[in-house]
Amino acid sequence: MENEFLNIVDKRINAAYEVPISQGTIRAMDLRKIKAGPDDFGLMTYDPAFMNTASCKSAITFIDGDKGILRYRGYPIEQLAEKCTFLEVAYLILFGELPTQAELETWIDNVTHHTMIHETTKKFLEGFRFNAHPMGMFISTVAALSTVYPEARNVLDPETRRLQILRLVGKVPTIAAYTYRHSLGFPYVYPDNELTYTENFMNMLWKMVEPKYRANPALARALDILFILHADHEQNCSANVMRAVGSSQADPFVATAAAAAALSGPLHGGANEEVLKMLDEIGSKDRVPAYIERVKAGQIKLMGFGHRIYKNYDPRARIIKWAADQVFEVTGRNPKLEIALELERIALEDEYFVKRKLYPNVDFYSGIMYQAMGFKPEIFTVLFAIPRTVGWLAQWQEMIEDPEQKIARPRQVYTGYEARDFVPIEKRGKPAPVAS
Ligand code: CMC
Repeated sequence: MENEFLNIVDKRINAAYEVPISQGTIRAMDLRKIKAGPDDFGLMTYDPAFMNTASCKSAITFIDGDKGILRYRGYPIEQLAEKCTFLEVAYLILFGELPTQAELETWIDNVTHHTMIHETTKKFLEGFRFNAHPMGMFISTVAALSTVYPEARNVLDPETRRLQILRLVGKVPTIAAYTYRHSLGFPYVYPDNELTYTENFMNMLWKMVEPKYRANPALARALDILFILHADHEQNCSANVMRAVGSSQADPFVATAAAAAALSGPLHGGANEEVLKMLDEIGSKDRVPAYIERVKAGQIKLMGFGHRIYKNYDPRARIIKWAADQVFEVTGRNPKLEIALELERIALEDEYFVKRKLYPNVDFYSGIMYQAMGFKPEIFTVLFAIPRTVGWLAQWQEMIEDPEQKIARPRQVYTGYEARDFVPIEKRGKPAPVAS
């Protein structure tokens, strides 16, 4: 709404200010004019971890965390997961509208023709130790693509950007699959252009000596749905990294690698792997109450629970639960599901979790489903990174095209020493002189 203002009175000097409010925000730079005196720098906000700071305007993803709503470009996640393929949703996220039939065919054809990686990049992967974590290999190899496509640095050119988007969306499944094959010591499988995005990924993961890999359609569809659910999630930690690195006009390969590095942490995308470790540690349903007690005592966190934005059931977790059932019909039920369901049941009734509004997030059930499909836990976060590459690229593209954006450079509140004189080495380490 226009013509809304915030009145601020600075009691230090009894000065009054009128600050415009727009879309529920005030501009932090408007506070700079609030000064205690002529030499004062002006007021800043202090917001560690960006708890209450909008760093950009974005038209990509909408979340209402209290109501548990997630929409891409206005479309509810439930409808997209039910009716679309992942590449259709990727097009929507990247370009703003659902594709027409012709647009979709061209898009799929373009992505499909960018799935190969250069043979030298393949050799680069071979340099990793046999037990290297797939996420470390993924991050490094995506960064290494920057050396293969030096023209990607031309980030202000829309056509160049579009080409790198195609390359990244096309190549991340190939890199992901190769990290997996490397860890198993299996030869790499080249992409098969006749297959869909997820079927081809499964082909590169699991094809052995058969002439043609045929993915189980139910499993391929379940993976496609998982990819849709993970495609974007507005200004999360890794999207923020993508924008921050991209804001220096670094190329999208290194920016994507940086975003993937942020994703790898256990509080972000790395949580899906941690959930499986946690379920292994618990071991059986009867040991759940004791585990919950340790969580409540603050000794450990319940992985796959809680979210900065969702203070309600994560809508993605609900859909994953449904997709997991479809997978279990093919693979048989993962015995860890019993433990997870019991954890959820107890946690949702317990005062500790209820008071803090802690609900299962996207990572709580995804690992159980991935494991049933045959994935090892170390690859789980890589599975998250494949579709999230689409979200990162959409956020990056939006940032580049936004005339209000500049190189990201937060302020700080300095809490260190005032100026002090250099101390020669022989005089260091002595107790500081006591002021008389
Ligand atoms: N288990 C136990 N207690 C928790 C948990 C949890 N998983 N999450 C939050 N809390 C408690 C926390 O200790 C704090 O309690 P108190 O008020 O007594 O200090 C309160 O809930 C608020 O938590 P917070 O740490 O201030 O919340 P945050 O917004 O900073 O953290 C989070 C969000 C996702 C990092 C956190 O909930 C967490 O670490 N969860 C486990 C890791 C996880 O599942 N991450 C995946 C997130 S979803 C996928 C993605 O987008 O990456």
